[in-house]
Amino acid sequence: MAATTYKVIAYNDLGMHCACPTSSNFLLLPPFNTIRAQVLQLGTNDPILPTSGITVSYQMVEDTDAGLIADAYFSTWISYAPKIFPGYQPLVGGKVMGLTGNGLSGTMTYDATSKSWIATGIPAFPPVTGTATDVMTDPLGGPNRTPYLTANVTVKNTAGTTLATTSTVVPVAFGGCCSCHLDVAVANGFPRTPDGSFKAMGKLHGQNSSKIDISLLDPDGDGVGGPIRCSECHLDPAMGETVAPGFANVHPNFKILPGATFTKADVKVSTLTFSQVLHNFHSGNAKVLAMDPNIDTNCYACHPGNGIECYRGSMKTDGFNCVSCHGTLSVRASSGQTAQPWNAATLPSCNNPAMGVTGSCHSSTSYPDGGGWASSFEGKYINNRGHKGSILCTTCHGSPHADAPATTAKDNSQNLAMQGSAKALGKCSVCHPTKSTSWGVPNHTAGNSVLP
Ligand code: HEC
Ligand code: HEC
Ligand code: HEC
Ligand code: HEC
Ligand code: HEC
Ligand code: HEC
Repeated sequence: MAATTYKVIAYNDLGMHCACPTSSNFLLLPPFNTIRAQVLQLGTNDPILPTSGITVSYQMVEDTDAGLIADAYFSTWISYAPKIFPGYQPLVGGKVMGLTGNGLSGTMTYDATSKSWIATGIPAFPPVTGTATDVMTDPLGGPNRTPYLTANVTVKNTAGTTLATTSTVVPVAFGGCCSCHLDVAVANGFPRTPDGSFKAMGKLHGQNSSKIDISLLDPDGDGVGGPIRCSECHLDPAMGETVAPGFANVHPNFKILPGATFTKADVKVSTLTFSQVLHNFHSGNAKVLAMDPNIDTNCYACHPGNGIECYRGSMKTDGFNCVSCHGTLSVRASSGQTAQPWNAATLPSCNNPAMGVTGSCHSSTSYPDGGGWASSFEGKYINNRGHKGSILCTTCHGSPHADAPATTAKDNSQNLAMQGSAKALGKCSVCHPTKSTSWGVPNHTAGNSVLP
């Protein structure tokens, strides 16, 4: 009889989280990486996924509290985040704290829906390490930074004995807005700086139907414009919201700075989601097309980008690009994808491309995605389990856009360590000590759906 052993397999939920160099003017997305770990208890029978009697913890490796506090970019998050999220403290007892109360290390919580241990909202940020892993260029001209971070995950029993460990990639990188918007600032008579860019963006936003120059919004009434979180007015499910909270509701003491041509009555929630305003506006604007005639297919103009490519999974080796699965910007806009962003109804899955896009994908008979569990955030790949219903698709296949075997060695290292191959986890004995030690394709068809 085989002795009881444990294994842990962990992945970041998204293939890449987007960050901005500075938070002093406006915020697209906060520092917020989420790791999910599945713990397996192995013996002679089928693997069991223990839900208690163990602690699962994570530790970021390249990001440290001291490093982030001293980082010129991250320190703007520490200074300005309390204005963007009233009541939130980004530093607690000298430690960096994310929006959901998780820091750079901590314990993970069991989630019965995904059958995984989760740490949400880890405040990961691309650091300057001075080593060869600094492969992301800085759009503002600073030193290169490390976008593929490491988290070590450890499982212990109640006596404190380590039962299993693993390491996974926590990816976070800068998007590409600055590469155009520093020029947009100059074209509008402002300096070629993040501040100038914000003022130009504000001026342009004041000329759209909202009339709101966002650079003249002062959230806390201290007489200084910004910082502004776009998704207070433009719904963004990635912020965990199902309606836009409204700038005036979040900042009841807000002021409008002198020189504005709009009033408090104009400060309204938009009818358009954040995805709609960004994708739809930039796909159709003549001045954008003058800067980048291929913007319709050039997703890396905004998505990271900066010397790295967030899409690095096996499907890239197979010749697919963003547009094959998601469609062009104009298709995303016209098909209604951007009206229902981050949603299973509009995102691609393994069986179908995104809403409004044609193309043949993996057979739903051989590899049914099973629908996944209902969620207002993310799609049928992230929110899904397969192989008899307990194992997340991501646990065997990796994060979306970094699916195994990825083009990046670091993303492959976990599966290589588990089974000696960078392919999806298919060596049965990794999880079933008494089954075959050769690699194969675990059953995808029987009992695949996670839904009751
Ligand atoms: C390919 C270049 C390019 C990229 C990349 C780009 N922009 Fe723009 N953006 C423009 C241009 C050009 C305009 C319009 C300028 C004008 O009308 O003078 C614009 C306008 C805007 C406006 C004002 C729209 C309005 O009328 O209210 C906002 C806000 C904006 N961009 C935000 C962003 C953000 C945020 C990003 C990154 C996620 C981004 N842009 C990426 C080129 C770009
Ligand atoms: C105080 C609320 C508010 C804030 C904050 C805000 N917006 Fe808007 N925005 C609006 C409203 C209202 C409209 C008008 C569109 C509508 O709802 O019909 C609009 C329109 C836009 C448009 C033009 C869309 C189009 O197709 O005409 C863009 C682009 C845009 N916003 C981008 C942004 C970005 C980027 C940010 C953050 C930097 C931002 N907005 C912050 C309220 C806001
Ligand atoms: C002008 C900048 C810009 C360009 C160009 C752009 N994106 Fe985005 N995209 C963003 C930003 C910013 C977000 C995050 C929005 C949020 O947090 O809701 C985003 C989010 C998304 C999402 C998730 C939300 C949703 O709508 O479901 C998808 C999918 C997406 N982009 C696909 C694409 C594809 C495919 C392309 C190229 C055809 C592309 N994007 C080009 C700025 C851009
Ligand atoms: C092989 C198909 C495929 C390609 C190519 C692809 N994606 Fe995706 N993308 C997906 C799938 C599937 C999802 C939904 C994952 C989920 O939530 O279940 C997704 C989701 C997203 C999201 C939302 C975040 C998330 O993971 O849910 C964004 C943003 C996005 N893709 C952008 C891009 C960009 C930008 C590119 C190109 C650089 C790209 N994708 C290339 C299949 C693809
Ligand atoms: C226990 C591990 C495991 C789980 C769980 C799992 N898969 Fe797989 N899957 C594999 C392996 C191994 C392969 C074979 C990959 C290869 O041929 O390189 C595979 C193949 C596939 C393929 C075909 C890929 C190709 O290249 O032909 C698809 C599509 C797929 N899986 C989708 C899913 C989806 C969707 C889920 C979740 C509902 C899922 N898988 C869950 C291990 C798993
Ligand atoms: C990543 C871990 C993992 C891998 C790899 C894996 N399995 Fe499994 N398998 C499980 C888990 C967990 C269960 C129990 C499912 C449940 O309880 O919902 C299971 C259940 C099964 C069952 C169902 C047993 C029953 O009583 O019905 C069979 C058969 C099976 N696996 C065969 C395989 C084969 C063959 C392979 C290799 C090709 C394989 N598995 C690879 C995790 C894995």
